[in-house]
Parts: sequence; C-alpha cells; structure tokens
Amino acid sequence: MIERLGIVGGGQMGAGIAEVAARAGSSVLVMEVNADLAERSLSRLTTSLDRAVSKGKLPESDRDSTLGRITYTTHLGDFGDRQLAIEAVTEDEGLKLDIFRSLDRAMPADAILASNTSSIPITRLAAATERPESVVGMHFFNPVPVMGLMELVTTVRTDAPIADAAEAYGSDVLGKTVIRAKDRGGFIVNMLLVPYLVGGIRMLEQGVATREDIDAGMRLGANHPMGPLELSDYIGLDTMKLVADVLFEEFKEAMYASPPLLSRMVEAGLLGRKTGAGFYDYPA
Ligand code: CAA
Repeated sequence: MIERLGIVGGGQMGAGIAEVAARAGSSVLVMEVNADLAERSLSRLTTSLDRAVSKGKLPESDRDSTLGRITYTTHLGDFGDRQLAIEAVTEDEGLKLDIFRSLDRAMPADAILASNTSSIPITRLAAATERPESVVGMHFFNPVPVMGLMELVTTVRTDAPIADAAEAYGSDVLGKTVIRAKDRGGFIVNMLLVPYLVGGIRMLEQGVATREDIDAGMRLGANHPMGPLELSDYIGLDTMKLVADVLFEEFKEAMYASPPLLSRMVEAGLLGRKTGAGFYDYPA
C-alpha cells in the first residue's frame, strides 16, 4: 500500500492533491522551487483546510494532523523514501522531462512516477526514464478537494500491477472515482470538454449571443455548474489554448482548433481568474 507520496509543484493542482492525500492519511512531501513559493503553497492549502473547518466539514484537530503530514522541500533528491511521485508543474514539456529524469534518479527502483499533465503524452515522459513500465498519468480536476474524478492514463509500456497500484491509491486512499484511458490527446474528459468550451468561445466570437446568455444557457439549460466561458476563465485560458492545440495537433480536426479570440486573449495576458480578467473581470 502506498503511504508516502511526493508531489512536484505546489500550485493550484499540486496543493489540491497534497490536501486530499494528507487528509486521507498519507505522508506528503511537496517540492517547490524556492521557499517563497513553498510558503505560498502552504498558505493556499491552509486556507482550504480552514474553509473546511469553518463549514463544519473537518474537525479542527484533523486540520492540525493533516498539516502535520505535509512537508515541503526545494530538492527532488529528498524523494528517496517516496513510493509514488505525482508531478503537477506547469505544462512545459522540457521542464517535465527534466523532472522525470531527476525523479528517476532520486526515487527507489520500485517507486511509481506519475504526471498530472492534461496535454503532454505520458509515453514521452516515460521514455525520459529508465523505468517506462512504472510511469502513468494521474489526472485530477480543479478544485481537487471537490471534484470526484481521477483519470488513470497508461501507455503501451505500463506494467499492469503498476496501473493497478495507482488506481488503488486514487480510489481506495484518495476516494476518487478512477476512469482509465489510453495515452491519447485529451484522455477522456478534455477530449469531450475542450471542443465544447472552444465552441462556446467561437459562438461569442461570431456574435451569436452575449457571454452572459451563452453561460446562462448551459447553466440553466444543461445543469452545468458553470457556463463554458466561466469555466474557461476558471481553468485558465492559457491552459485551454494549450490543450486545444495539443488536440488539434493530435487529430487535425477543426473542432479542436483554438479560435482567434482565444489566441488573442492569451497573447494579451487575459488568462481568466488567475490574472483578474478573462471573459469576465475578477476584481482582487
Ligand atoms: N477547494 C475546496 N473546496 C472548494 C473549493 C476549493 N478550491 N471551491 C469550492 N469548494 C467547495 C465549497 O466549500 C462548497 O462546499 P459545500 O457545498 O460542502 O459547502 C462547494 O465546493 C461549492 O462551492 P461554492 O458554494 O463556493 O461555489 P459553487 O457552488 O459555485 O461551486 C465549483 C464552485 C465547485 C468550482 C463549481 O462551480 C464547479 O464544480 N464548477 C465546475 C468545475 C469544473 O468543471 N472543473 C473541472 C475543470 S477541467 C480540469 O480541471 C481538467 C483540465 O485538465 C483542464
């Protein structure tokens, strides 16, 4: 059974995975590039736990024991006792390849290496290591404490017992429903979700309806918690464009192509909630 988890990157996704894993009883070591970012990550995580306490969903003593199971480091060399590492850094292939090479050197021979990537082929990351049979995708959804799903992505090289162990950790320990996908652009969810979101942006660009009406249409007409433009802002327009580009590159179908409006907004630095403006404004 996996008890010691390492997470590379303590941003929105990394901190969310760390929170869920530590609440479930795992020992969690998070690697950040410097002490400032580590502090910011811990503060994000503590705020989320405090919110759960104030809503009566988490006893105060459990918050303290959860925090007691999380430590930060700035060195991947400290991952020598970890049984599973989940990489959750920005979608930069060169960076991820470097991290996988370092994890491969630092971690025990029987450890599992996973990526939370939504756009980079797991096969490519696995090929950067000496243990491609022990590499999988473990793709979580934002906000990780709320979303009940984990996509498990296997490659042609993944060993079945490794995939089973990663699935068991996702379901039995983290409490997520695990669905399995092959290593194809978008896996399951983004392959279906991204053309829909891109379609909403195209509809706005063509002047078919206002942003409010497009979003209200899908919130009230299809019972989605957010409309396509709100959700795009929530995911981040840079991430959206990246995944759309990967899908287009993989399948060469027009429905995946980034609309010019999305490309221009990314170039203008309007990335959604994280920059305070996207399709909507988010005053600080
Ligand atoms: N951390 C922890 N809990 C959170 C949270 C966070 N960041 N954000 C919201 N919550 C919790 C709240 O505490 C609240 O819990 P209770 O109901 O138990 O009180 C619950 O979620 C609902 O939150 P709110 O009432 O504050 O707000 P809301 O009802 O508007 O819900 C939302 C917010 C959960 C984000 C909801 O709008 C939603 O589900 N949106 C869609 C999110 C989605 O589709 N995510 C997937 C994106 S795609 C992706 O991640 C993959 C990729 O590769 C791009």
